[in-house]
Amino acid sequence: MKRVLTGIQSSGTPHLGNILGAMLPAIELSKKNESFLFIADLHALTTLKNKDMVKKNSLETAAAWLAFGLDTSKNVLYKQSDVPKVTELMWYLNCVTPYPMLANAHSFKDKSNNLSDVNAGLFTYPVLMAADIILYNADIVPVGKDQVQHLEITRDIANKFNSNFGETFVIPEARVEENALIIPGTDGRKMSKSYSNTINILGSENTLKKQIMGIITDSKDLKEPKDPSSCNVFRIYELLASNFETEKLKSKYKNGGFGYGHAKKELLELIVKRFEKPRKKFNELMDCPENINRELKRGSEIANETANNVLKKVRQNLGLVRA
Ligand code: ADP
Ligand code: TRP
Repeated sequence: MKRVLTGIQSSGTPHLGNILGAMLPAIELSKKNESFLFIADLHALTTLKNKDMVKKNSLETAAAWLAFGLDTSKNVLYKQSDVPKVTELMWYLNCVTPYPMLANAHSFKDKSNNLSDVNAGLFTYPVLMAADIILYNADIVPVGKDQVQHLEITRDIANKFNSNFGETFVIPEARVEENALIIPGTDGRKMSKSYSNTINILGSENTLKKQIMGIITDSKDLKEPKDPSSCNVFRIYELLASNFETEKLKSKYKNGGFGYGHAKKELLELIVKRFEKPRKKFNELMDCPENINRELKRGSEIANETANNVLKKVRQNLGLVRA
């Protein structure tokens, strides 16, 4: 059986884009393959500088995996920082990683152009990601298109290590859904924490309402017929609704006498109805963090065991073990 592994950075509360684009497809894969799914809280430290936020985001990210039905009796859910050996492996990998490969990574260039705090963690981010993957002998890594270059870097580093020090690591493969959904945000651009255009489907109804009411539309008045395909409210609605519901909303747009406020109200109702169960489960989990922490502790025990075995071989192959 192939081992699937993927991580989600706990840099904020998982939003509709993260959930539809990354979490639900990974949970689907986890039904057929043993999966290692983790909360990348060490990566989140590249941007998060507040202790309470670090804690809250990790818990919320874990709660989201659980609320959407990840079966932890068949898969491993853990927090990246609960396996400290990943940072030891990162050092070994740093020593075989060519500097220009990191300097030329798109994601580093983007981040270093847009962030005021350009720290060394952002620069070595792909090396930690490589360690995350090869420490667990992962075969398949489901990721969005934006992460494909990081997977190429991972493969390069693992191959280089293997050819220098002897066969040590499994070479992983990226699994990119070709027709992966790119969920639009409230301003029509890709939904992303960094654009502040997210819809937090696990947030309170008040926050949700504010975010949905804030979706940007044109200024056609209530009476005028409207074009659904160019409307941000409709584009999000159709991702979540049945064909029947979508057709019904489409004709309301086209007939006129239906305002964007009405459409937003329908979207809010749809989200609350569609995600009723995970929202409830998420809130229950967040009310009892001990239950989340118990799951994470169990996952980290399995993850540490795998990591210890791989690292033993790494240290041996590096010549760090006394004869
Ligand atoms: P953000 O852009 O909000 O910071 P991340 O970069 O942390 O999100 O993404 C975490 C995961 O969610 C990645 O696998 C990414 O591909 C996926 N993802 C993020 N935003 C979207 C989106 N708008 N549509 C589809 N998938 C998304
Ligand atoms: N860099 C990934 C992202 O931003 C998160 C991540 C960290 C990851 N380590 C990983 C994804 C290992 C897959 C495998 O989405």
